[in-house]
This record gives sequence, C-alpha cells and structure tokens, in this order.
Amino acid sequence: MNNKPKVAIFASGSGSNFQVIMDASKAGDLHAEIVAVVTDKPQAYVVERATAADVSVIAFNPKEFSSKADYEAAILKELQQLEVEWIVLAGYMRLIGETILDAFPHKIVNIHPSLLPSFPGKDAIGQALAHGVKVTGVTVHYVDAGMDTGKILAQQAIEIVDLDREQTEQRIHAVEHELYTKTLQQLWSR
Ligand code: GAR
Repeated sequence: MNNKPKVAIFASGSGSNFQVIMDASKAGDLHAEIVAVVTDKPQAYVVERATAADVSVIAFNPKEFSSKADYEAAILKELQQLEVEWIVLAGYMRLIGETILDAFPHKIVNIHPSLLPSFPGKDAIGQALAHGVKVTGVTVHYVDAGMDTGKILAQQAIEIVDLDREQTEQRIHAVEHELYTKTLQQLWSR
C-alpha cells in the first residue's frame, strides 16, 4: 500500500532544497512522494532540476493573471488533479494567499534563512549581515497568512563571526538541507 503523502514543492530559484528533499524521497529516507514543483519563475533553475528528476512542473507567471486569487486558483486546480496533500515552500519568494491557505490548512511548511522572528521577508541573510549579528540561523515553520509568522517547527543557530556573504550563504544552505529533511521526516512519520 502506498500511503506516502503527496507533496508539491514551491520554489522560485535554484532549488537546492528541492533537490535534497527529492533525493531523500527517492532514496526512501523521506516518507513522501514529490509529485510536483510549482514555480512563479518559469526560467528558474529549479525547473531543470524537476525535469531531470521526472517531476511535473506547474509554472505560471503571476503577471499574466488579473489577481492573486486567480493565479492561486490556477495552481490549486493542478494541485487537486495531482491529489497533493502537503505543500513545501523551498525558496518560493511570494506570500501564500488565502486561496491556497484555505485549501491546505496546517499542511504548508516553509524554510527561512534566519532565526525567526528576526529578519522575516526578503534577503534575510543581507538583513542579518547589515545588522552585524554574530549568530543567525535557519527556521522551519508552518505557513499562515503573515510574512514568516507561522508556528515554528525547528530552528538551528549558526555563528557567522568573520564570515563574508558567500561563506554565510554556504553555511546557511548546508544547515537548511539537513534541517529541512530532518524536520519533514519527523512531520511525516507521525
Ligand atoms: C533558501 O535559503 C531559503 O531559505 C530561502 O531561499 C533560498 C532558496 O534556496 N527562502 C526565503 O528566503 C523565503 N523567505 P534554494 O533555491 O537553493 O533551495
């Protein structure tokens, strides 16, 4: 019996988190079936990764819709056809609106490159560096209607003393890949 939750990953960029989650699922280390990648950036590298992994790509340009509700309704229709049960945001750079939120209550998670509630929103790493913090980190949380405000599932701190932007990004990505996989494993083994 295949009772693995069906998952869609939303991403706008490179998709390194998508890749790690996909690989863990294929290796049997994650009890989930990744059935789609949803992107608002049809040129993003994550699309190539999804194609290589044989995963359906749902790519809509939000600018081609008259409202956010219409844009999300188009995505929702595709997700429902694929019987998606969970949404994992992995570098999806848009706020989820109520059309998708209402269809997936407590079934959307996000990863954010800071120790929330510090530095929500865009360029969290740049915000942390501009403030000169010595410690930043990574947060995995449920998604609600706010900007990175949902209930926190997991966090990991990272010391960034004497690290430049590139080194900080590398440290954060490495921690993200491990923490996201581990947190999703726990979430779906319950
Ligand atoms: C990750 O660092 C993720 O935390 C961040 O985008 C990056 C995506 O990397 N997300 C946010 O900033 C959301 N507010 P990836 O495309 O290589 O997975």
